Order: sequence, then C-alpha cells, then structure tokens
Amino acid sequence: MKSENDMYTALIHGGIYGDELTGSVNVPIYQTSTYQQERLGHHKGYEYSRTGNPTRAALEALIAELEGGAAGYAFASGMAAVSAVLSLFETGDKILISSNVYGGTFRVLDKVFNQFGIAYSIEDTTDLEALESRVTPEVKAIWVESPANPLMTITDLRGVSRIARKKGIYTIVDNTFMTPYLQRPIQLGADIVVHSATKYLGGHSDLVAGLVVVSSEELSERIAFIQNSTGGVLGPFDSFLLIRGIKTLGVRMDRHVENANLAAEFLKKHKAVKKVYYPGLEESQGYEINRKQAKNGGAMISFELKENYNIETFFSSLRLIALAESLGGVESLICHPASMTHASIPEDIRRKVGITQGLIRLSIGIEGIGSILNDLEQAISKSEEK
Ligand SMILES: Cc1ncc(COP(=O)(O)O)c(C=O)c1O
Repeated sequence: MKSENDMYTALIHGGIYGDELTGSVNVPIYQTSTYQQERLGHHKGYEYSRTGNPTRAALEALIAELEGGAAGYAFASGMAAVSAVLSLFETGDKILISSNVYGGTFRVLDKVFNQFGIAYSIEDTTDLEALESRVTPEVKAIWVESPANPLMTITDLRGVSRIARKKGIYTIVDNTFMTPYLQRPIQLGADIVVHSATKYLGGHSDLVAGLVVVSSEELSERIAFIQNSTGGVLGPFDSFLLIRGIKTLGVRMDRHVENANLAAEFLKKHKAVKKVYYPGLEESQGYEINRKQAKNGGAMISFELKENYNIETFFSSLRLIALAESLGGVESLICHPASMTHASIPEDIRRKVGITQGLIRLSIGIEGIGSILNDLEQAISKSEEK
C-alpha cells in the first residue's frame, strides 16, 4: 500500500513525467495519428495512434502506478472501458454483478453482450456466503462497485476476491466512486479495475474518459489487443486533460470528503429527511468493512425526503446545486436516480434493489460548505407540503 506521502507525489510525478525531448514539465499533447518510420520495420515505439500515443501512454502508465497494477489502458468513455473488459468473455460465460451496479453497465450487458451469449445475473454481493454458492461452472467473473450507486452499498472487496481466486475466476471492480486515492482494489485482491474517469479523476466535468487497470501481464496483453482491435481509445488532448486533473486528485478528494461528512450530518439531523445513505456515517451499511478497505466514505450521498415533501419542487428550487447527470466534479451536482442514472434498469428491478422514486443522489463539490447547506435548506423548506 502506498503511503499518503507517496500517493500525493505519484499523483503529480507518476507514470511518464514530463518530456525527455524538450524538458517540458508537462507531457506534451502529441496530436498526431501516425509516426514517421526510420526504415522498414524500424520506428521509435509508435506506429499509429489507435495502437499507441505518447500522451495516452503517459496517462496509462500513471493510472497503472496509482492503482498498483501491471498496466493501464485509456478509453474514450467509462462505457468504452467497461465494454473492453466485457470483451474478455465469450459465448456461454456468465458474469455475476452487484445489484446496484451502474445503469449503463447493466444496459450494455443486458442489451449488447447478452446478444453474443454472455449471460449475467444480479446478486447481493454483500452476502459472501450466498455469492459463493452462485458461482456455478459457467461463471467467469464477479463485477462489483463499492460503494455501489446509488444506495452506497458496501461490498467486502477482499472477501469477493478470495471467493473469485478460490473458484479461478476474475474479480472486476468499478472504482469510479472512490478513485485510487481512497481505495485500491488490486491491493485487496482484484484482477481488474475499471473507471469512468469522467468523474473524480478528471474532476472538472470537462471531459468523458474511461480507464482500465489490470493486475497481470496476461490480462495486459489481452486488454491491449482488445483496445487496439475495437479502437475506443482516448484522444491525446483528453489524455492531457486527464493527467492534469489527476494531479489535484488528492487535494480535491480531501475537500470533497470533508464537505460530504458535514452534509451527511446535516441531512441526518434534518426533520425532512427520512434516510441518509453515506458510507462515512457509523450507522451505515458496511461501515466497518469500508473503513478496512478504503480511506474514508467518499463524497457521494443519497437521501430520501419524507412523504410530505414534494421532490419536484425540491429539485426545481435548488439555486447552486445543479440538477445534472454525472458526479465527481468540483461543483455540487444532484440527480434523481430512478429517472436519470438508473432509468435503464427496469422498474421492478429498481424497486427490488431499493431505488425508490423519492431517492435523491448528491455529488458533493468543493464549494464552501455553508453555500451547499444553505441551498439544500432553502429548497427543502420550499418543498414542504403544508
Ligand atoms: C460507476 C460508473 N461506472 C461507469 C460509468 C460510465 O462512464 P462514462 O459515463 O464515462 O461512459 C459511470 C457513469 O456515470 C459510473 O457512474
């Protein structure tokens, strides 16, 4: 495990730092599709930018170092990264997924990979005994998010990895909500880590990107082949922006988490609030497990207002906090999972896993906490039905 000191340094100097050719402290944006070869069969390590690009390579080396993996790969979106990982599987294989998995991951499995004979089943990954009994011979991987979106459900990543190792299958962790600054799944036993880097890693809501980190050379070769074959790579400019975003990940996350703890306490004590879901609260599901596998509870909070508060009035009364998809940017965002991020999950499944109409998800930004709480307070008070 990296010490906090090493992690702060790696965020800024990790991977391929600067540029040997010119001394530029920042990795240049190599905006090129191709590379002149010296003579037949002799080049400087790059032939064509789908296969490899120096700016992307610097980002890929950086995320591999931060996650403690064998290699990293950068994609044009989180979903392109998810799809590349799912392309490891073949007809007849089955993947077990956490019940609160991101809606897009469910959709690509259900509507795209299912067409190619790759099956999935939705499991309660918090119950390790039940999960182990579900690993039948056709199961080739367990796909988890912890915390899982939007109820912030915590899964024991060491426990899942132990089961997967015993059964000879992969553990895949979507680490978008935590980032390697707060949680490093490969160190806990996972084989593959996936990110929507659009979120905290980018950090400024100004790019869409995805990352994959693998734990072994064998997986590295397979993902490199899939990346080059299917071609959903991240461009040089967005690779540069992502490297730039990652430099401040540590200081941003510290501030996000400080604000999130204060917001969770505020919501917990508020008379209008029925329930708060935040892994940083002692009474929350999986609190002890999260404490052992992550630095803290992160900065995503979900909550439900009591029945006598009108949720539509609440959303339309917010002035500072933007009603928007996505999360992890410096600005606070709010969303309604049932009609937004998780709309692609059928209603009966949504109900079964607890994604109610009244559920609200908050991505706490790094603004002054007073402004965030004032905005929540005035919108809650306007939404009360007398
Ligand atoms: C946990 C998680 N995984 C994957 C994705 C997909 O990423 P992208 O939107 O960058 O394609 C998202 C997007 O919201 C997400 O929240």
